[in-house]
Amino acid sequence: MSINLTRRDWLVGSAAVAGTMIAAGVTNAQTVPAPNLNPTPKNPIRAGFNENVYGHSLKAKKAMEKAAETAHLYDFFTQRALKDVISKMENLPTDHIAVENGSTPFLEKATYEAAIKQGKILTTNPTYSSVPGTAKLLDIEVVAVPVAEDMNIDLEAMRAAMTDDIKLIYICNPNNPIPSTIEKNALREFCIEMSKRALVVIDEAYYEYVNNPNFASMKDLVTEHKNIIVCRTASKIHGFAGVRIGFAFAHPDTMRKVAGRFNLSLSNVAVAGAVESYQDIEYQNFIKKKNRESMDILENMFEELGLKYIKSDTNFAFFHAGRPSTEVAKKLMEHGIMSGRPFPPFTDWVRMSTVKPEEMQYVADTYRKLFG
Ligand SMILES: Cc1ncc(COP(=O)(O)O)c(C=O)c1O
Repeated sequence: MSINLTRRDWLVGSAAVAGTMIAAGVTNAQTVPAPNLNPTPKNPIRAGFNENVYGHSLKAKKAMEKAAETAHLYDFFTQRALKDVISKMENLPTDHIAVENGSTPFLEKATYEAAIKQGKILTTNPTYSSVPGTAKLLDIEVVAVPVAEDMNIDLEAMRAAMTDDIKLIYICNPNNPIPSTIEKNALREFCIEMSKRALVVIDEAYYEYVNNPNFASMKDLVTEHKNIIVCRTASKIHGFAGVRIGFAFAHPDTMRKVAGRFNLSLSNVAVAGAVESYQDIEYQNFIKKKNRESMDILENMFEELGLKYIKSDTNFAFFHAGRPSTEVAKKLMEHGIMSGRPFPPFTDWVRMSTVKPEEMQYVADTYRKLFG
């Protein structure tokens, strides 16, 4: 379906497909714009959780199936192999790398560490909810500095908000739900300076998607500067959101705060899959290409409808819908599309994850039809 499709074309084409579906006995509240695409509220297009909807690399899948055959045994060696793969890729010694069931355990443990010290947490608003949410559970104070007017993380304002009782600084780069990155030199300076006063955690969950010369990972800082932890995850580009693998990069002295001596709670199956997935560059390039195609579909729609949006360094968009995101989510869900939850104070902005281009086209066409 062409991006320049008129509303009339859309309605006419949709009616024809809907007619075929009714004749075939398929009952759907909405129309189907592409073959084999049949989104319903019960089985929606998943544009709400920033996942990789393509699933695993076939090499990873094969490795996981093989590993499942010996999953009744302890397996220490594959874990070492995974650390070796990451060590070579990231140019970090293996004792600076820890593996967990996703990056969430590291984010939570860093928050517990602040709680043990009876300290506060400094972060930004909005940002990813794991650290602030865990802090709320633990009843510790979060100083959440609003993003700047351009909606980027405001490092100057965070500096100004820093106090001695803050024991953890959490920065998500690229941020979530605002999919932009922080200028690399400014962030490097901030991390070095602040790590002398508190534990600094940089969450790089969307690292693989970034295509921006102003961005740099902070992983190089961890060998020299204690008190900095960089988190990564296989949940995004590798499609391991349900399988669970994540990493922390840190100096061994700092690593003790968030990781044990050896992680026995990892799944052999997940580790074996990650060993292959991280080496499957062709697969990662395919996902990046598809992400770009889908992001182009969304950005064309934003431009056409005159909607303000943030240039994305991730696999999700954030745009100004100009109406409550809850209303947008409800209407889209009636058409089998799941979009992001509300992100106060930006409650009239919507977070939309990329999905396969053919699904994204349906999302864009539906959005135009409902709100254009
Ligand atoms: C910024 C950020 N960090 C961490 C996570 C959670 O990652 P994991 O699945 O590795 O626990 C997410 C998930 O959406 C995220 O957006």
